[in-house]
Amino acid sequence: MNIIKRIRLSIFPGSNKPADRQKGNRKYFRSLLLHFRPRVVSERTLKFSLTWGLGGMAAVLVFLLFGTGLMLKFAYEPFPDRAYDSILHLQNSIPFGQLIRNIHHWSGNGLIIIAFLHFLRVFFTGAFTGPRQFNWIIGLALFAGVILSNFTGYLLPWDQLAFWAITISSSMLEYIPGVGARLQELVLGGHDLGPSTISNFYAIHTAILPVLLLLILPFHFWRIRKANGLVIPRSPEEDSDTRGEKVDTIPNLITREVTVALVLFAVVLIISMLVDAPFAAKANPGLSPNPTKAPWYFMGIQEMLMHFHPVFSLFIIPLLLTIGLLVTPYLNYQADTAGIWFCSTKGRQMAIIAVVTAIASTVSGVLIDEFMIGSAQAGPNIISSGLVPFTIVLAGCIGFYVFMKKKFNATNNEAVQTLFILLCTAFVVLTVVGIWFRGTGMRLMF
Ligand code: HEM
Ligand code: HEM
Repeated sequence: MNIIKRIRLSIFPGSNKPADRQKGNRKYFRSLLLHFRPRVVSERTLKFSLTWGLGGMAAVLVFLLFGTGLMLKFAYEPFPDRAYDSILHLQNSIPFGQLIRNIHHWSGNGLIIIAFLHFLRVFFTGAFTGPRQFNWIIGLALFAGVILSNFTGYLLPWDQLAFWAITISSSMLEYIPGVGARLQELVLGGHDLGPSTISNFYAIHTAILPVLLLLILPFHFWRIRKANGLVIPRSPEEDSDTRGEKVDTIPNLITREVTVALVLFAVVLIISMLVDAPFAAKANPGLSPNPTKAPWYFMGIQEMLMHFHPVFSLFIIPLLLTIGLLVTPYLNYQADTAGIWFCSTKGRQMAIIAVVTAIASTVSGVLIDEFMIGSAQAGPNIISSGLVPFTIVLAGCIGFYVFMKKKFNATNNEAVQTLFILLCTAFVVLTVVGIWFRGTGMRLMF
C-alpha cells in the first residue's frame, strides 16, 4: 500500500470498506444534508428564472464575509492611532492580506445589491403574502443587518473616506425628534468620532451583528420550509393549485446551489484580484473633503436632504417608507398572485409606466429644485422646505395610485405594486444622482 493511501486510510478509515459499505457512508452524508434541506422539492421551483439564485448568493456572500472577517480580525487593531497602520501592514506585509480585505470589501458591498435584488424578486413574484408574510419581515430585518454591518465596517479602516462618511451619516441621526441627540451620542460614544466610536463600531461589527445575523438567518430558512417551499412559478392564466411534480433535493437542488455558489465565488475572487478596496489618506479630523459624501447606500437619503427639510428627509419619509414595507404583506389583497411575475399582464404594463414616470418626475424634480428654486441644500424653514414639498410629493403619489387604479381598472395587488415600483425607482434615481452627479459643494455636475 503506498504512503498516500495509508495516510488517507489513517484519516478516513471508511474508505477501506468494500464498495457497498462505502455507499452506506454516502447515505449517512446524504441524510445529514437532508437534516438541513427538505427531502423533495417542487420541480417547478428549480427554474432559475424564479429565484435567479439570489437568496442563495446572498447566503454565500454572508459566509464569505464571516470567513474573511475572522481572518481580518487577526491583523486589524481598533484604535484611532493604529487602525490605519494595521490595514497598511495587512495589505503590504501579510501574505494575501490585500486579497482577503478585497474579498471582504466587495462581498459586503455586493451583498447589499444582491439582497436588494432578492427583495425585488420576492416582491414581484408575490412571495410575501399568505404563509410567507412573516418571512418578508424577517427578510427586512436581515436587510437592516446587512446595511448596518456595512455601515459599521466602513469606519474601521479609519481613512479620510471612512471618517467623513461616518461623520456625515451619524450627524443625520440628530434630526430624529426627541431621541436624536442622545442616539447620536450613544452611537459615537461621545460628541465626536474618536476612540470610543471605533471600539463601539468594532464590537457591533464583529460581535453583535454577526450573532444577530446568525440567529436570524436560520429563522429565514426555517420559514421557507414551513411555507412548504418557495412560491410555485406560474403564468397569469394558471391556477394557484397547480403544484407540479416533486423531485429529490439530492442531486436536483444541491447541484444547482453548488454551481451558483462556485460561480459567484469565482466572480468575487476575480474582482478582488483585479480591483483593490478603496483606501484614502489617514483620517484627518481637521480636513473635510469637498464634497463630503455618506456611504453610497445612504446617498439616496443624502440626496433627499438636498430637497427636503432634515426632519422630513431623515425622519418622516424614511419612517413612512419603513412602515409601508412592514405592513405590505398584511394588506388585504383581492387576488392570489403568488408565483406570477408582476401580478398579471396588466401589472407588467403598469410597472413599465411606473418606472418611466418615476425616472421622469424624479429627474425633473431634482433639476427644478437645483436650477429654478435654486437651493443647494433645503432651507431651514420646516414649512416651506419641509411640509410644502412633502405634501406635493405625497399628493403626486396618491394621485398616481388612484389614476392608475382607475385607468387600468386594476386590482389592489396591481395598484400597490405600481406604487411600490414608483417609490423604489425614485429612490434608486436619487441614489444614482447622489453618487455620480454631485460634485464640489454638492452641486449638480454632468
Ligand atoms: C442576507 C440577506 C438574505 C438572505 C441570505 C436570504 C436568503 C434566502 C434564500 C436562500 C431564499 C430561498 C431562495 C431564493 O428565494 O432565492 C430566500 C427566500 C425568501 N426570502 Fe430571503 N434572504 C435575504 C434577504 C431577504 C429580504 C431583504 C427579503 C424581503 C424583505 C427576503 C424575503 C424572502 C422571502 C419572502 C422568501 C421566500 C420566497 C418564496 O417563497 O418564493 N429575504 N431568502
Ligand atoms: C454581513 C456581514 C458583514 C458585512 C456586510 C461586512 C462589511 C464590511 C465592510 C464594508 C468593511 C470595510 C472594508 C473596507 O473597505 O476596508 C468591513 C471591515 C471589517 N470587517 Fe466586516 N463585514 C461583515 C462581517 C464581518 C465579520 C463577521 C467580521 C469578524 C468577525 C468582520 C470583521 C471586519 C474587520 C476586522 C474589518 C476591518 C478591516 C478592513 O476594513 O479591511 N466583518 N466589513
